[in-house]
Amino acid sequence: MKKITVIGTGYVGLVSGAGISDFGHHVTCADIIESKIRLLKNGEIPIYEPGLHELVDRNVNAGRLSFTTKVDEAIQQADVIFIAVGTPQSDNGEANISAVESVAKSIGKNLNSYKVICTKSTVPIGTGNIICELIRENMVDGGEFDYVSNPEFLREGSAVKDFLWPDRVVIGASSTKAFNIMQDVYRPLYVNEKPILHTNVATAEMIKYAANAFLALKISYINEVANLCEAVGADVHLVAKGMGQDGRISSKFLHPGPGFGGSCFPKDTQAFATLSRKKGVPMNTIDAAITTNNIQKTRMVEKLKNLIGSDFSGKTIGILGLAFKPNTDDVRESSSIEMIQSILDEGGKVKAYDPIANKSMQNIFTDLNYLHSWEEACDGVDAMVIMTEWNEFRGMNLKKLKKVMKTPLVLDTRNILSMDKLSEYGFQFDNVGRKTVL
Ligand code: UGA
Repeated sequence: MKKITVIGTGYVGLVSGAGISDFGHHVTCADIIESKIRLLKNGEIPIYEPGLHELVDRNVNAGRLSFTTKVDEAIQQADVIFIAVGTPQSDNGEANISAVESVAKSIGKNLNSYKVICTKSTVPIGTGNIICELIRENMVDGGEFDYVSNPEFLREGSAVKDFLWPDRVVIGASSTKAFNIMQDVYRPLYVNEKPILHTNVATAEMIKYAANAFLALKISYINEVANLCEAVGADVHLVAKGMGQDGRISSKFLHPGPGFGGSCFPKDTQAFATLSRKKGVPMNTIDAAITTNNIQKTRMVEKLKNLIGSDFSGKTIGILGLAFKPNTDDVRESSSIEMIQSILDEGGKVKAYDPIANKSMQNIFTDLNYLHSWEEACDGVDAMVIMTEWNEFRGMNLKKLKKVMKTPLVLDTRNILSMDKLSEYGFQFDNVGRKTVL
């Protein structure tokens, strides 16, 4: 079994580290943020991710998983080092790789034997070369390494499942020795006949961006189809079903909604589009997906105004769902942010509820009225908007909803409520790409 060090304990690093230790390897997760490591050492998990607590506990108890702030030592003792630090978006749209660069320098300084250096963070195509140069520049005598790109395809909310049961593992490596070591790391998956795709480094880096941008494109496409459905009286759910039954298209990522959010699609599409322009090969499709997504978020605000029949001044709106999608407390780039901001800007009031993301949203809107249930958030409101498709909203009692609301106006941006039931109880409602009852 290999000795592995994962640098960065965000959701990618932590899930990957815990997952690799579950394969039987000895894993050290290292991070310079002391508060995070302290929490982890105390058996607490700094992020909400279903199944992660159990996975971490199981492997810590088995003595295969540990946490440290001593990054240098963790590098020295490892056979394989995974770089899993953040690459946030810079002001110019490019990914900011300064944390990756700083880790590369530390790796160089502590390279005391042959090691495989593997990047999991989503980095612009070509970053592999920069990392290798930085390691070489800082390398002490006797150091030796091979570089590998091993992009992650984890979804927040199902990251543990995605790690342990992936569709594929992409390994970009020009050295056969390094590829074989990486195959050993992923041996349990390999034995289960999960496809391992061997490419060069640039191809592996490209696969990650091309996959994320394609999924974003698919969402923007179905959102535009949904908008056109509204204009022609078609039902986008049936359209998506009819499209998805064609195996070449597939039904996945054809759910219309208020626009994609999160820490990946908005950032990665921007970075991909920026890179393509820089290389003189602009990707018009990706530019269009970004524009469509921005328009979709604004369109939801317009829909709410149309439903209310006026602007938001003096109105109180119940917002159900703050996270960018269910099963996460992440609100980064969530469509609910634009919705809430627009209501507040026009002098409206917001009563907000999310099963777990109230706290994260407090970092963006400090003074919002955060409630502890959908019933409380809808009590006495002029209209209610569903922004995230949490299961508890799918099954809400509409009779009760009507009773607590001041006016029975509902905007369902995730299309999760039954239109028949809404009509039956006398709601006026709107959704995305389906029948509007006004
Ligand atoms: C995404 C990719 O799905 C992962 O494969 C990838 O590893 C990850 O980015 C990453 O780069 O780290 P994630 O951002 O966690 O994962 O979430 P998704 O489930 O892909 O959803 C992204 C956004 O698209 C959400 O706002 C979601 O509501 C929206 N969406 C998704 C739709 O509006 N319609 C759909 O049909 C699917």
